[in-house]
Amino acid sequence: GKDGYRHYMEKELHEHPVVVGQTLQRFIDPTTHRIVPLNLPFDLSSIHRVSISACGSAFYAGLIGRYWIENYARIPVDIDVASELRYRNPPMEKGGLGILVSQSGETADTLAALKTFRENEQHIVSIVNVDQSSIARQSDYVFGTVAGPEISVASTKAFSAQLSVLACLAIALARAHNKIDPLQEEEMVNHLLELPSKISQIFVKKKEIQQMAEFVADAKTVLYLGRGSFFPLALEGALKLKEISYIHAEAYAAGEMKHGPIALIDQTVPVIAIAPSGPQFDKIASNLQEAKARGGRLLVFTDQAGAERLQTVAEQCIILPEVDAFVAPIIYTVPIQYLAYEVAIKKGTDVDQPRNLAKSVTVE
Ligand code: F6R
Repeated sequence: GKDGYRHYMEKELHEHPVVVGQTLQRFIDPTTHRIVPLNLPFDLSSIHRVSISACGSAFYAGLIGRYWIENYARIPVDIDVASELRYRNPPMEKGGLGILVSQSGETADTLAALKTFRENEQHIVSIVNVDQSSIARQSDYVFGTVAGPEISVASTKAFSAQLSVLACLAIALARAHNKIDPLQEEEMVNHLLELPSKISQIFVKKKEIQQMAEFVADAKTVLYLGRGSFFPLALEGALKLKEISYIHAEAYAAGEMKHGPIALIDQTVPVIAIAPSGPQFDKIASNLQEAKARGGRLLVFTDQAGAERLQTVAEQCIILPEVDAFVAPIIYTVPIQYLAYEVAIKKGTDVDQPRNLAKSVTVE
């Protein structure tokens, strides 16, 4: 049942902290705070190219995974939506690593991507939530997310569990390639281990998220902006909003605004920014100034320091716990999805069963 929540989606949103904790437990040694030996059927140090493929939200998790693997392990990563991989037909050197990300493990396009990886003699690992699924069965190695059954059509907790696995895999690759030392590994792991309690703190922001939702529910179109590893979260936010509230939304890397989309902005367009303070903050702050100057109404997810800096430009800031930049995308996932949920409530849509959608897409 829904355990007293209004919808499965709300219940599953509240499972984020537990699911992240359970998934991390599978890959982290509780005494050494290092990633456990993975017993893969190949050597991670032999991997010099990674390809990721997935659909929808799982694809956005993959985009964040690319960011981590390239940044920490310094291995080049290719990523394609699964429905396009075989048509782009990218050259793959034998012995590369192909990663599939799928909650259901039954998505036909993702299964087709797996076949493409197989034809190209890639080592195939999958990040799936359903152990006995087709994608899991056909992979060389399965990283199980421990999210439990996800009933709501819109994916929530599976996404943060996928990110948790990708973060651990990035650390394992970085270690195998001598890009981090044991101390750095322990530090990164410690940041991950802080997540469940930090994510729990987000639910006290419910009233503020509902207030933001009020504003978004009146809009015809919404823009989501982010930079770096937060750009995929902007995509995730826009997808969730479209999917369950039927409000049109688009996401842009904040720096792209001035190359066209800024023409859309007027007083009726909420601009939702994912902008924690950190290395990219100054840039996104100036992108937001530009949007504000054109009448855009800025709604910002940030931290205390970011909120102070954006005080005069933002219509509303939701202040999230301070976290290391490495794990911040996992924290910021939760309020972004929660906002879409609260907007859908205001629109009165069928949140758990949005129109035209099925939980598992088994046609190509
Ligand atoms: C979004 C959503 C979809 C799925 C996509 C992939 O909320 O649920 O975009 O993420 O259909 O599904 P899986 O992960 O089962 O392969």
